[in-house]
Amino acid sequence: MNYKRLGNTDLKVSTICLGTMTWGEQNTQNEGFEQMDYALDQGVNFWDTAELYAVPPREETYGHTEIIIGNWFKKTNKRDKVILATKVAGPMRAYLRGGGNNYGIEKMTQAVNDSLKRLQTDYIDLYQLHWPERNTNFFGKLGYEHDDSSEWNQFEDVLGSLQKFVDAGKIREVGLSNETPWGVSKYLELSKEKGLPRMMSIQNPYNLLNRTYEVGLAEVSVRDKIGLLAYSPLASGYLSGKYRNNQMPKNSRIERDGSFWTRYEKPNTNKAVDAYFEIAKKHNLDLTQMSLKFCEIQSFMTSVIIGATTMEQLKTNVESVNIDLTDEAIKEINEVQTIYSNPCP
Ligand SMILES: NC(=O)c1ccc[n+]([C@@H]2O[C@H](COP(=O)([O-])OP(=O)(O)OC[C@H]3O[C@@H](n4cnc5c(N)ncnc54)[C@H](OP(=O)(O)O)[C@@H]3O)[C@@H](O)[C@H]2O)c1
Repeated sequence: MNYKRLGNTDLKVSTICLGTMTWGEQNTQNEGFEQMDYALDQGVNFWDTAELYAVPPREETYGHTEIIIGNWFKKTNKRDKVILATKVAGPMRAYLRGGGNNYGIEKMTQAVNDSLKRLQTDYIDLYQLHWPERNTNFFGKLGYEHDDSSEWNQFEDVLGSLQKFVDAGKIREVGLSNETPWGVSKYLELSKEKGLPRMMSIQNPYNLLNRTYEVGLAEVSVRDKIGLLAYSPLASGYLSGKYRNNQMPKNSRIERDGSFWTRYEKPNTNKAVDAYFEIAKKHNLDLTQMSLKFCEIQSFMTSVIIGATTMEQLKTNVESVNIDLTDEAIKEINEVQTIYSNPCP
């Protein structure tokens, strides 16, 4: 396994992070346990979850993934072996603390306490804001229309609340998710000016079908030591190649919940995946591993958050750290990107 520092902290996290959002929906607790045992054995010391999980989010499964992780900590007594990241949800439907914004002190205090309880731990290593409260573009939204009419908690107040959790020993570090260059820069500026906790990571999408992070945020990541935690590195599974040629594997994410996962269902998805498949074949690589490795080697990357629903997938994904991408393969990948430029932004 490879390791990198999380932001400018002393935490050394594996460059493969264990994603968990299928546990409690697509995967059972026992399957989650098996994944955690295996991942830790392979040196994957960095795990990502959220209060909102399992996904697709439903009232009945809210918090279930954290409960599974908490049960594993209790069973194994291995809490101290893991650098654990979780998230407080952004504005939500009524079932979550009455709906609406969540980054005010009262609701966030409840969120952090509830997460700690479900996780059966007294600290969270990285506490992330799942998505912005203000109206802006994220989750693939294009066509920016400025609309500042809705209420959102000011960043300084949010950082002040996070400071209280740090002081109480409930969280160690803080991070952002689904943020924009403006949001990240503003948070960093305020932390410095006011001596408030500093955001240490940006958890945004990054994969061969969506390299939009390279414009804007990549520079912020490197210059300001706030690396990317890349989610959906396989574009929800499309970059494994299993949906090629109109295949729809039974119990796959798209077969189960295709109407929820529309982000990668775009006109040029299949053409781009076919082109990447040919590159992988030519270089004797597995397409999944080539896709993950491409993410891992980026200068702005801290860790690639993998998601697996079977042990076979998990092994393939973890082992992607051991492959090499030649300069020629990278050049060919970049050529495809110029033809099918970010088909799924
Ligand atoms: N911050 C956020 O807003 C956000 C959003 C999304 C995800 N995340 C985090 O990032 C993690 C990973 O995201 P993701 O699940 O979207 O990642 P992904 O790698 O893009 O997609 C994972 C899906 O691809 C399929 N897959 C994975 N490995 C495979 C393999 N070797 N061969 C064939 N199919 C394979 C599996 O689906 P099936 O078996 O079901 O087909 C799996 O559920 C999540 O668990 C979560 O922790 C965060």
